[in-house]
Amino acid sequence: MTFDLIVKGGLLPDGRQADIAIISGQIAAVEPGITAEAARVIDATGKLVSLPFIDCHFHMDATLSYGTPRVNASGTLLEGISLWGELKRLQTREDIVARALTYCQQAMGKGVLAIRSHVDVTDPTFRTVEALLEVRDIIKGKMDLQLVAFPQDGWFRAPGGEAQVIRALDAGVDIIGGIPHFERTMADGAAAVQAACRMAAERGLMVDLHCDETDDPLSRHIETLAAETLAHGLQGRVAGSHLTSMHSMDNYYVSKLIPLIAEAQVAAIPNPLINITLQGRADTYPKRRGMTRVPELLAAGVTVAFGQDCVMDPWYPLGSGDMLDVAHMGLHVALMTAPDQMRRCFDLVTEAPARVMGLNFGLRKGARASLVVLDCATPLEALRLRPARLAVVSDGALVASTTPAKVSAHPF
Ligand code: FE2
Repeated sequence: MTFDLIVKGGLLPDGRQADIAIISGQIAAVEPGITAEAARVIDATGKLVSLPFIDCHFHMDATLSYGTPRVNASGTLLEGISLWGELKRLQTREDIVARALTYCQQAMGKGVLAIRSHVDVTDPTFRTVEALLEVRDIIKGKMDLQLVAFPQDGWFRAPGGEAQVIRALDAGVDIIGGIPHFERTMADGAAAVQAACRMAAERGLMVDLHCDETDDPLSRHIETLAAETLAHGLQGRVAGSHLTSMHSMDNYYVSKLIPLIAEAQVAAIPNPLINITLQGRADTYPKRRGMTRVPELLAAGVTVAFGQDCVMDPWYPLGSGDMLDVAHMGLHVALMTAPDQMRRCFDLVTEAPARVMGLNFGLRKGARASLVVLDCATPLEALRLRPARLAVVSDGALVASTTPAKVSAHPF
């Protein structure tokens, strides 16, 4: 038998050394010493072979726009939202497509092969949605792009917000979004959560809300989201992004809330780079960390996946598409420095977001043949060094490669 591709001698994240044989875009075998012929062989001897990196929370309609028309001087979420309001009146569909494709190419070079992007549907011109639907078509076959109908200015607060969500879903956007903490009142926020879940049940879709992205401990829309998930039988199809208010909540309340989230099988998507820079802005000292309770959610059996959220946009001036940067920051902010916790952080940018997005990625027979060869030996080295992605394979095809830089330091 001749395979399309064999990745030889790599070290899997669990430490086993194995060859990976690929045919017709699928993994045919994962075992040591495969001797069959292949059209192409990648020598990964002694190198970490991982699942691709997956970013399950991003904003592709805003990416790489930093400085247009101005920068976010206060660094707050609210100034970011108002700046985005200025930018979305200026940018054309072509601008959005061009920036998004540039970003996708950069991210692919870093081994990112699937992205869930929120797309602002409250732009009355609808050009954000049209642009990202076009991008989804262009990158299809190399990268998976899931789109979330995100009413940035509110389900109820934006004029026609709900109607625009429906319009986006009818146009082919995949998932129902929302931003309950940005509605005018807590009651409107709860009503927006209820409306999103009802719509998901009616249409058979997933839900992913920007939920409680605030330092206000009384922002408790996640409770409503979990309860509505149960009421509509949406277990396993719902995610709460950010959940930063949980950082500041009363511990007793959280001891009741986390089991509810687990019961409802609502996934949590913290965004460490953004949460650590946008939250705590109104604090003097001590300044809160502003990331949700990752170790406690994991301990309760909740699916947690780290997202990147932003790269060079109205909310964040940095970012490179490297999910190892995201995991590195998440590990620090969550104080997850025990060896098993660091190892878990690697899963939160590979395996866990694949689960959230429902993707058949895995280093096992029958899974999609998407993987990354890194210039290191273990997941912990990957987190420490964020090394070159030597080879990026998407559905059996080599889509990116990097030659690592050689450092020559003079001897002492
Ligand atoms: Fe976001």
